[in-house]
Amino acid sequence: MKIGIPKEIKNNESRVGMTPAGVFELTKKNHTVFIQTTAGEGSGFFDKDYQEVGAIILATIEEVYSKSEMIVKVKEPIALEYPLIKENQIVFTYFHFASSEPLTKAMIKSKSVCIAYETVEDEEGTLPLLTPMSEVAGRMAVQQGAKYLEKPIKGRGILLGGVPGVAPGKVLILGAGVVGVQAAKMAAGLGAHVTIMDINMKRLRYVNDVLPNHVTTAFSSEYSIRQLIKTHDLIIGGVLVKGGKAPKLITRDMLKEMRPGTVLVDVAVDQGGCFETTKATTHEDPTYIINDVVHYCVANMPGAVPYTSTIALTNVTLAYILKLANLGWEKACESDLSLSKGLNIVKGEIMYKELEGIFG
Ligand SMILES: NC(=O)c1ccc[n+]([C@@H]2O[C@H](COP(=O)([O-])OP(=O)(O)OC[C@H]3O[C@@H](n4cnc5c(N)ncnc54)[C@H](O)[C@@H]3O)[C@@H](O)[C@H]2O)c1
Repeated sequence: MKIGIPKEIKNNESRVGMTPAGVFELTKKNHTVFIQTTAGEGSGFFDKDYQEVGAIILATIEEVYSKSEMIVKVKEPIALEYPLIKENQIVFTYFHFASSEPLTKAMIKSKSVCIAYETVEDEEGTLPLLTPMSEVAGRMAVQQGAKYLEKPIKGRGILLGGVPGVAPGKVLILGAGVVGVQAAKMAAGLGAHVTIMDINMKRLRYVNDVLPNHVTTAFSSEYSIRQLIKTHDLIIGGVLVKGGKAPKLITRDMLKEMRPGTVLVDVAVDQGGCFETTKATTHEDPTYIINDVVHYCVANMPGAVPYTSTIALTNVTLAYILKLANLGWEKACESDLSLSKGLNIVKGEIMYKELEGIFG
């Protein structure tokens, strides 16, 4: 199959859909891989790295789309790319259709085969192509939170790990899913005192089993959140209600209970956020302050660490890409139920139930 990797053109997106290691696996199976020049540079991969494993470098995005039977990307196509997508072309990437009517209508019109990373689902009901980005965001949440706790950027002026003779900072994590556990691991590693909350006791038992003793678990309720926010320095939101908006666990009035300079990191911002005062921010201007409380609400946190994120993403997409390339999309989806759940729009028809009727 002819596979094309365009350069991402969405604002501030430096990830790329395939690493040289992925190209190596595809060319070994006699597939042809086209990659747009400099597409991998933001992630630390250069044209010569791709050429060495057999990729063909193309000068323009138009050439990549026109020569390829399958396009592999990271972010959803933006308006400039809509006219480049052809009938019957497979497009394998994050789409997040429910949040964009123009994208949904453009892909229906294109008659392409849109397979969305975010809806590929394994037997346990987890989303294998979303997990690595939650892992990145969970770990980054602590890194960012620790930075914004510094005084010059309006934080409380606390070193999370403390020093001998001075108590460490306190981190409260809402949600003990992928984001929450990774955040807890990082915060505990820094030496902070960590409390992690969930409404799912199985998750709390898991955390209790695998994380060190200075990570405390707590059942999440409004009462317990109201108590804990008074004494914690960094609060990380990582809750998810599948298919729904995040519940607002911290309301505007609760900010008054926090100490000035407390830092809130809302990782769940992409699902509307779990703090009432959350509004999405960007890497250029990541924070804002309300009632002396610092808010960090960047919706694409993994985009700031493209080297790590590209490798983490392509580690999990490659097996599916190989299957699609070797068998074609129909046979690949017939033989792999997880992959078939990624089919969102096929040749003008909506295949993903949750999308039906959303935009009339
Ligand atoms: N901002 C970013 O760049 C970025 C990157 C990756 C993921 N995310 C988002 O982070 C969020 C979390 O993702 P995840 O992969 O960890 O999800 P997950 O499903 O693994 O975990 C969510 C957890 O929230 C818990 N939960 C639900 N309601 C709760 C409540 N009322 N109180 C406490 N806990 C509750 C669930 O029981 C679950 O354990 C998602 O919205 C995801 O889209 C954001």
